[in-house]
Amino acid sequence: MHIEIRRPDDWHLHLRDGAALAAVLPYTAARFARAIVMPNLKPPVTTTDAAARYRARILAALPAVGPFANFTPLMTLYLTDLTPPAEIDRARASGIVFACKLYPAGATTNADSGVTDIRRIDATLARMSELGLPLLVHGEVTGREVDVFDRESRFIDEVLAPTIARFPALRVVFEHITTARAVEFVRTARDGVGATITPQHLLHNRNALFDGGIRPHYYCLPILKTEPDRAALLEAATSGNPRFFLGTDSAPHAQHTKENACGCAGMFTAHAGIELYAEAFEAVGKLNRLEGFASDFGADFYGLPRNADRIRLEKREWRPPASYPLGEGERLVPMRAGEPVRWELAT
Ligand code: DOR
Ligand code: ZN
Repeated sequence: MHIEIRRPDDWHLHLRDGAALAAVLPYTAARFARAIVMPNLKPPVTTTDAAARYRARILAALPAVGPFANFTPLMTLYLTDLTPPAEIDRARASGIVFACKLYPAGATTNADSGVTDIRRIDATLARMSELGLPLLVHGEVTGREVDVFDRESRFIDEVLAPTIARFPALRVVFEHITTARAVEFVRTARDGVGATITPQHLLHNRNALFDGGIRPHYYCLPILKTEPDRAALLEAATSGNPRFFLGTDSAPHAQHTKENACGCAGMFTAHAGIELYAEAFEAVGKLNRLEGFASDFGADFYGLPRNADRIRLEKREWRPPASYPLGEGERLVPMRAGEPVRWELAT
């Protein structure tokens, strides 16, 4: 058995830099035509100039031959308290920056320079709204007193809903949503609000973190939630509602930094970045909805053309290895390491 779909895009991806970038990029470029590239490098990508240089490094890291050559990185800027509106003008004029990312300060990996209070960037958000540059949000409040499982819901009430109301024309992507509450919020929000959903949040609930012992390779932020949350996300992804689209949030970390007393957040999924979604959609008999979610709705949201070529997925089990190289002697442990993935990309 096989299916064919329009070539998909990844609307939320971490590519890192240097040797790690060269190591992980081919997995994405073999499957996806384009990807929205997250700016949380060290130091973060806060200017259009920095985004242009990062883009050049990504293109230089692409293998020259093979199915990879046509991959297009879509760059983003990392918002700080000090991002001036003029930077939004430069971003828009550049033609290479497609969105700005809001990390609440301290929310996740390399979010230390993020925004401390969204009202501090009102003028910048106003310019984004005017120029049609989407705001991508990591939707979690950061207070240490807030339960880690409630951070997304609290963000909806305290930050997202008021921001969407104060900027009625701002296009907003609520990234990597993880709760039934977020699904309902996006479904009923005003026009111009969308959401990405990762494969791990469609396939797993928080039990995966504690299956026979602590499982650091299932730790990402926002953290996996309950089974009713997972079910609501899968229902949304497979519903045909164009507000919900694919964003893997594939986030490579060196093995020793995850298998650690204080392990990093992030799951690497790019090696099976479309195959894992096919598995989730098949599990509820909705493979016919995969193409819209993976290949159509994200492009439509960003006002970009849908891809012209197609990919073929075959129903055949394969096992990702225990680890992949991450450059400079490092390794990363991919999702499903040593365990079966039920769909395979045909080359
Ligand atoms: O799990 C995560 N990893 N969540 C994020 O928001 C950032 C990402 C990373 O960069 O590793
Ligand atoms: Zn991310």
